[in-house]
Amino acid sequence: MEYRHLGKTGIRVSEFSLGSWITFKNQVDVDAAAEIMAAAYDLGVNFFDNAEAYADGKSEEVMGAALKKLRWRRGSYLVTTKLYWGLHKGVNEKNTLNRKRLIEGINGSLERLDLDYVDVLYCHRPDKTTPIEETVWAMHNIIEWGKAMYWGTSEWSAAEIVAAIEIAERHHLHKPVTEQPRYNLFERYRFSREYERVYKEYGYGTTTFSPLYSGLLTGKYSQGIPADSRGALEGFDWLHDQLTDKGKLEKVQALEPIAKELGCTLSQLALAWCLKNPYVSSVITGASRVEQVHENMKASEVTPKLTPEILEKIDNIVDVKKEEEDD
Ligand SMILES: NC(=O)c1ccc[n+]([C@@H]2O[C@H](COP(=O)([O-])OP(=O)(O)OC[C@H]3O[C@@H](n4cnc5c(N)ncnc54)[C@H](OP(=O)(O)O)[C@@H]3O)[C@@H](O)[C@H]2O)c1
Repeated sequence: MEYRHLGKTGIRVSEFSLGSWITFKNQVDVDAAAEIMAAAYDLGVNFFDNAEAYADGKSEEVMGAALKKLRWRRGSYLVTTKLYWGLHKGVNEKNTLNRKRLIEGINGSLERLDLDYVDVLYCHRPDKTTPIEETVWAMHNIIEWGKAMYWGTSEWSAAEIVAAIEIAERHHLHKPVTEQPRYNLFERYRFSREYERVYKEYGYGTTTFSPLYSGLLTGKYSQGIPADSRGALEGFDWLHDQLTDKGKLEKVQALEPIAKELGCTLSQLALAWCLKNPYVSSVITGASRVEQVHENMKASEVTPKLTPEILEKIDNIVDVKKEEEDD
């Protein structure tokens, strides 16, 4: 496993990391979570991603209990969480980054994770109704109190990120250091175009998510939705359209000869492609079982094989222009 700096910070993150969205609690209990995390950690993963909203807080509880079981040295790994959607419907408690919610939110997350601090606390989405200045001050205070080491954004616009950085600079506060955007073969426009200025001018880091487009890029949805897959989970019907998109499935099939030529699986090809981008600090993977971790972590061996010619072939199959219009 190689490690990359999280943007301009001194912290280094494994180029592949592991997240718990959908999997922890819905598919995986504490014992299975511990096994999956251990498989990743043994292969060099040092970054474990979570969020308050995942399984309504239960994903943090599962990860916290798994960490307790694993008894790793706290200095040897990083844990992140995110706030925005909230766990309650109160007017000041959902879809917000107001000061009261952020401070109550981090306290709740730390309790569920059973940790003294998280390494990165993300604002899970932008909040158009709270002044960015209020959010920046609250995140600064959370860091000053030792409840988070760094803070970041997720799916904020480049303009919102720059505004937050500039407010922090003006008041000598802790700046956000990393974005968590979606980035995969089909969804790349924002990462590649909109955010470019933020990496180049501000040294912003990126921990990217959904590298396999929720599993479509593995090729396993080509004959319909497998019974043991994310697509078959109760309560996730909203993913069906994405996972049965005929046009995208045909493109995935067309990528198969390239994977064969490189001696890898489709999953490894899609993951290696994400890693090829030097502005990616870490690609956050997801796994519902240990075997997927083993397969996915080998993708770093494929990245050097992605020559400009191969990348062009991939772009032609994916039809980048069309995907950008849809993105
Ligand atoms: N900031 C945000 O708003 C945000 C949003 C989404 C995700 N994230 C983060 O990013 C992480 C990864 O996102 P994601 O789970 O959507 O990633 P993904 O890579 O797009 O999908 C992961 C899922 O694909 C299937 N899979 C993975 N490897 C496979 C393999 N080798 N063979 C067959 N199937 C395989 C598994 O599902 P099944 O086995 O169940 O089919 C796995 O849970 C999340 O856990 C979360 O931490 C952040």
